[in-house]
Amino acid sequence: MTGQVNHVTHPLVQHKLTLMRESSCASSDFRRLLGEIAGLLCYEVTRDLPVEQVPISTPLEPMMAPRIAGRKLVLAPVLRAGLGMLDGMLALVPAARVAHVGLYRDPATLQAVEYYFKAPSDVAERTVLLLDPMLATAHSAVAAVDRFKARGCTDIRFVCLLAAPEGIAHFHDRHPDVPLWTAAIDRALDDHGYIRPGLGDAGDRMWGTR
Ligand code: PRP
Ligand code: URA
Repeated sequence: MTGQVNHVTHPLVQHKLTLMRESSCASSDFRRLLGEIAGLLCYEVTRDLPVEQVPISTPLEPMMAPRIAGRKLVLAPVLRAGLGMLDGMLALVPAARVAHVGLYRDPATLQAVEYYFKAPSDVAERTVLLLDPMLATAHSAVAAVDRFKARGCTDIRFVCLLAAPEGIAHFHDRHPDVPLWTAAIDRALDDHGYIRPGLGDAGDRMWGTR
């Protein structure tokens, strides 16, 4: 199976991403823009959710109307930067449950180190939207998917802002069954595992740390 890559090229997404990339973009604007893009990505990643017809009554007459059916959603931000995508998604799917995945990249090895994981007890029956703005080496994304698969999840979708070609290749080498959505596919990784041209360290830019 080859992995599915969905490149979201909508002009609103691309415009807001350009504003975020600018090194002069303040943390407050960076957070707001990421939240807005997350909402737009949510629209795309949920595009194929099944619907069922249910009877309702408008003030004027009864009718059959569509309602989302099937698996319920879990939104799973990868800490810290994935948190910036959570509220934008929750604004559109307020009934979704939230799982938290605490991972950081060891700066020397670039391997993912887990420090926290908490998911709803019925996560295996749900569709998991894994949220992290950056797919660089993909070690973090692979580790996060490993975690959900170990809990029995079979419908996992990865949503990011920027992806490196090397990261996409590694991610789909390890998890070819997990489709991904990204707003941009950048040129390459540099020697420190940063996406180029990229936007720098997403967590630091979002929360004003260095
Ligand atoms: C960043 C980012 C991803 C990871 C991507 O997190 O949010 O989780 O790096 O890199 P990878 O694809 O090479 O694994 P970071 O480790 O900087 O943690 P932070 O969000 O807490 O700053
Ligand atoms: N994590 C980031 O925040 N930025 C990168 O370019 C790579 C990993």
